[in-house]
Amino acid sequence: MDRINNLLGLRYLSKEQIEQLLDKSDHFRKMIDRNDTPKQPTKPSRILNLFFENSTRTRVSFELAAKMLGHSSVNFTGEGSSIAKGESLLDTVKNLEAMKFDIFIVRHEVPGVPKLISETVQGSVINAGDGAAEHPTQGLLDILTLKRSFGRIEGLRVCIVGDISHSRVAMSNIHGLTKLGAKVSVCAPRPFLPSAIEGLNVDVYEDIDDALKDHDALNLLRVQLERDAGRLLPSLREFNRFYGMTLERLSVNPKIRILHPGPMNINVELDSRIAESKNSLIFEQVTNGLAVRLAVISEFAERKVK
Ligand code: NCD
Repeated sequence: MDRINNLLGLRYLSKEQIEQLLDKSDHFRKMIDRNDTPKQPTKPSRILNLFFENSTRTRVSFELAAKMLGHSSVNFTGEGSSIAKGESLLDTVKNLEAMKFDIFIVRHEVPGVPKLISETVQGSVINAGDGAAEHPTQGLLDILTLKRSFGRIEGLRVCIVGDISHSRVAMSNIHGLTKLGAKVSVCAPRPFLPSAIEGLNVDVYEDIDDALKDHDALNLLRVQLERDAGRLLPSLREFNRFYGMTLERLSVNPKIRILHPGPMNINVELDSRIAESKNSLIFEQVTNGLAVRLAVISEFAERKVK
């Protein structure tokens, strides 16, 4: 695989690079299932989790993965830091870098911040979500979940449903799945479609029942209320009525598998029975998230030692 110094987005990776990360992630997933401990490094890396936005699954799994691999990881959140006293983002990063971190895991509401940091620091940068741009490890874990469930990605029909315009998850899914030969569509009310959708080679559905019939899997996205998504709709109740996933709706295609990156808005994108239903891959995604972060951290940490 061509060496990459940073993981900024699936749009920057080749099919082979994505496949290699998926193979490594699958190896770690099997290790998690066997309850094995990964090989410990002779020279542990220093890992900084720089989270300027809220996170549950992504942050905890990155932190747990670093610990399982025997590295030192530190959590930094903008809140409670000197950013509140007026220190700039890049000054903060330069000061933290002086503590000799090897890997920076960055989440920020502004697209491009992980790239900006990668141009400032010597270590590797892993994008843990930048605005509506990309969330490459989420894309990888979604693809890994689909691959383990269907045994393939080539030719798989996957539809991403809901608030596409605010979603970095949608972008990483579209780039990653398309490169691996899946047929990707989106389904959303018009105001939830980004203007750039036309250049992305995806089919657009407006009717969720048509999307259900025509696909192998649906990836349901959260309506991102903190980014004012609610203002694009007449009401959340309307969205739920036309796009919300229910067991009754699923009966149109009993084989459909359902993904959701979390956090879920119950009774907006889906009702409370979906996550626990036989169609759901939602908790598999969370376990695979740990596997992907183990793979990505070990990929970058191994390079430091060489
Ligand atoms: C996503 C995110 O933060 O982009 N969640 C996640 O990482 N599991 C999706 C979301 O916030 O809706």
